[in-house]
Amino acid sequence: MTDVLREAGRRRTFAVISHPDAGKSTLTEALALHARAITEAGAVHGKAGRRGVVSDWMDMEQARGISITSAALQFTYRDSVINLLDTPGHADFSEDTYRVLSAVDCAVMLLDAAKGLEPQTLKLFDVCRFRGIPVITFINKWDRPGRAALDLCEELVDRIGLQPMPLTWPVGEAGRFLGVLDRTDGTYIRYTRTAGGATAAPEERMDSGRAEAELGEDWIAACEEAELLAESGGEFDADRFADASATPVLFGSGVLNFGVRHLLDLIVDLAPRPAPRPDVDGELRPLDAPFSAFVFKVQTGMDRAHRDQVAFARVCSGVFERGVVVTNATTKRPFATKYAQQVFGQERTTVDVAYPGDVVGLVNANALRVGDTLYVDKPAVRYPGLPSFAPAHFAVARAADLSRAKQFRKGIEQLESEGVVQILRSDRRGDGSPVFAAVGPMQFEVAAHRLDSEFNSPVRLDHLPYTVARRLPDPAQRPIVNASSRSESLIRTDGAELALFTDQIAMAVIQRQNPDLRLDPLVAGTD
Ligand code: G4P
Repeated sequence: MTDVLREAGRRRTFAVISHPDAGKSTLTEALALHARAITEAGAVHGKAGRRGVVSDWMDMEQARGISITSAALQFTYRDSVINLLDTPGHADFSEDTYRVLSAVDCAVMLLDAAKGLEPQTLKLFDVCRFRGIPVITFINKWDRPGRAALDLCEELVDRIGLQPMPLTWPVGEAGRFLGVLDRTDGTYIRYTRTAGGATAAPEERMDSGRAEAELGEDWIAACEEAELLAESGGEFDADRFADASATPVLFGSGVLNFGVRHLLDLIVDLAPRPAPRPDVDGELRPLDAPFSAFVFKVQTGMDRAHRDQVAFARVCSGVFERGVVVTNATTKRPFATKYAQQVFGQERTTVDVAYPGDVVGLVNANALRVGDTLYVDKPAVRYPGLPSFAPAHFAVARAADLSRAKQFRKGIEQLESEGVVQILRSDRRGDGSPVFAAVGPMQFEVAAHRLDSEFNSPVRLDHLPYTVARRLPDPAQRPIVNASSRSESLIRTDGAELALFTDQIAMAVIQRQNPDLRLDPLVAGTD
C-alpha cells in the first residue's frame, strides 16, 4: 500500500452539527482533551467568560463575543488522525456553515437531551441528507433533567425519518446519570465525575450481574428499554449508517466528559475514511492520484497586520507538500503554497505535509475562490463547484457616500466572488442598488463591515420583506412575479433568475392564480 493510501485510511474528517447552546464548543474541548490536543479544557475556543481563548481576529467578533472563523482542529487519537472541522456556533446562520459540510466525510449531530431536534440542527441535517453524509448522534447534557431516551429516539424517526441505532443506553434518567449500558456486549460502564470535566472522566466497566446487584431497578429498566429497541429495528447496521438512513446514537455529557471517549472510538472504528471524490464529469479521482484539493471556505482579514486572505482547502487526492506550486483549475493560473497553515481559533501552525481528508489553510490566497479546485501535475482535475444555498434574507445595498461609488462597486464584486453574500440585480432597481441575499443575516453584517473597513465605502442596507426564494426558469414569466407587491424577480450574478416571495402563503396564492407559473427549488434539500 502506498503512503498516501495508508495515511488517507487513518484520516477521519467530520464536523459537529448542532443548534447553538447544545454544547458544541464544550464537546470539541472534551474531544480534544481526550486526544490530549490541548492540556486543559477551554483552550479551543469559547464564548463570553472564556474570552481569552476566543478567536478575535475581527472587531465584530470581539464586540459580539462570537467566533465567525471556521477552520479545522487536527489531533491524533489511537492510530487515527482526526480532522474536526468547526462550524460557526453563533445563532445566525451563514453559507459557510453549509459549505463546511461539503468538506467532511461524516457529521456528529449533537442534541440537547432536554430539547431534542432544534431548528438549526434540522437545517444542517437536511444538508447532510442531501449530500448523503453519514451522521452519528450524540445526545448531550444527560447530567441535567431532560426528556426520556426512548422519546428522543422516536423523535428521530418521526421528524426526520432517521432510524436510531443506540450503541449505548443511559442508566438512570436524564438528570441522574449513572452510566451507560454498552449494547454491543451488555456490560455497564460507570462514569465518575471529575471537577468540571476538566480531565477525562474515569470509567469503570462491569458485567451485567454486578451491575444489577449494584444498581437494582435502574439497571433492569435500562436493560428492558434496550430490549425494546432491539425489537424496533434499533440494532446497529453498518450499511445503513453508511447510506445515511440510520444513525448510531450515544448518550453522554460533554461538560462532565461522559461518553466522549466512546464517541471518539466510534469515529475511529466506524466513520467513513476519505474516499475518491467525483470530478465534474463524475469520474472518481483516485486517492493516490497526484495532489488535488478544493477550496470550501475563504476568510479575509484574519491577520490584522496583513489583511491577508486565507483559503481553506480539503485535500482530495495525493500528498500536499508545502511550497508546491499548484494550478487553479478555474483560472489555470499557478498558485504557490509557501505559506500553508492549519488554523483553528487563534492557533496557526505551519503545515508541511497533508493527506486526503486534511484541511490546509492557504495564506495570501487572494486569487482563490470558494469552489476552486487546486491540483498539481497531470491529469488535471476539476471538482464540482459548491452549490449556493437558498437565501432567506434580502437587503438593498446603497453606497452611503456617493463619492465612493467606484470603491463600492469594487467591494461588492469582491464580496460576491468570495461568496460572502449573493448579489441580485434587476433593471427595475438599477445597477447602483444591488440586493444582498444571504442564508443568515450575519452575512450582511460581515459584508457591511468589510465594505466599510476594507473599501472605505460605508453601505446603507434596507431590509426587504422576502423570506422565500425560488428559481424562475422562464424569464417570460417575470411579469407575473413582479405584478404582486409580495414578490419580485431578480437576477443573480451567476445568471440564475430568482423569484422572491414574502412568505410561503404569498407564493401559494400567486401560484394558484397563475397555474402555469413554473418555480423550481434553488437547491434540493435546503429549501
Ligand atoms: P455551543 O458551542 O453549542 O453554543 O454550546 P457551549 O459548548 O458553549 O455550551 C452551552 C452551554 O451548555 C454552556 O453553559 C455549557 O457549559 C453547557 N453545557 C455543554 N455541555 C453540557 C453538558 O453536557 N451538561 C450540562 N449540564 N451543560 C452543558 P453556559 O452557562 O452558557 O456557559 P458556561 O459558563 O458554562 O461556559
